[in-house]
Amino acid sequence: MWFVSSNEHKFGEARRILGRMGMELYHHKASLPEVQSHSLKDIALAKAASARSLVGGAVLVEDDGLFIDSLKGFPGPYSSYVFDTIGNAGGDRAASFRAVVAYADGSRTAAFKGEVRGRIADAVRGSGWGYDPVFIPDGAGGTFAQIDKDRLSHRGEALAAFARWYGGGQRPPDYSAA
Ligand code: IMP
Repeated sequence: MWFVSSNEHKFGEARRILGRMGMELYHHKASLPEVQSHSLKDIALAKAASARSLVGGAVLVEDDGLFIDSLKGFPGPYSSYVFDTIGNAGGDRAASFRAVVAYADGSRTAAFKGEVRGRIADAVRGSGWGYDPVFIPDGAGGTFAQIDKDRLSHRGEALAAFARWYGGGQRPPDYSAA
C-alpha cells in the first residue's frame, strides 16, 4: 500500500516497522494539505482523503505532534510550524509525542494512535531528524536520535495498532481525539 508523505524519515521508519510485521509499504512522495485542527486524528483523516484522490487504492498517512506538559500541550498539532520557526529549543519539560496514522481504501477508513511519554532534553543530543535529538522517552538512556526508536516510538505504536486491525479483521478503535 502507499504511504503518502513528503517526509523520507517517516516513510523509512514506517516501512521498517511494518516490514517486520510482513507488510510492504511504498512511498508516494507528496506534501498533502494540512487542515487546521486541534485534533491529530481529524488532520490525519483529511490527509487520508486527499491521499486517496492523489493515488487511489489503499493509502496510509500520518500526522504527529509533540505535546509539552508545561506549555499545556503546545505545540501539539502545530509542531511542524514551530520546528520550522524555532528548531530544537532547550529546557527540561515533560512531554509526549503522539502519532495518528490514517488508512483509507475507498470502502474503509480508520485511524490509529500511538503515544510515548518522555521529556525534552536540556541540550541537543545526537543527530537525527526533526525533534529526535531533543526527545527522551521515559525509561530510555538517550534521545530518539541516540537509541533504536522503532519499538517504543509514537509511530511504532500507531503502526502496530494499524497492523493488528488490518491483519486481524478487528473492529477499528474508537477514540474521540488525539
Ligand atoms: P507532522 O506535522 O506530522 O509532519 O509532524 C509534526 C512535527 O513533528 C514535524 O516537525 C516533524 O518533523 C516532527 N516529527 C514527527 N515525528 C517525529 C519523529 O519521530 N522524530 C522527530 N520528529 C518528528
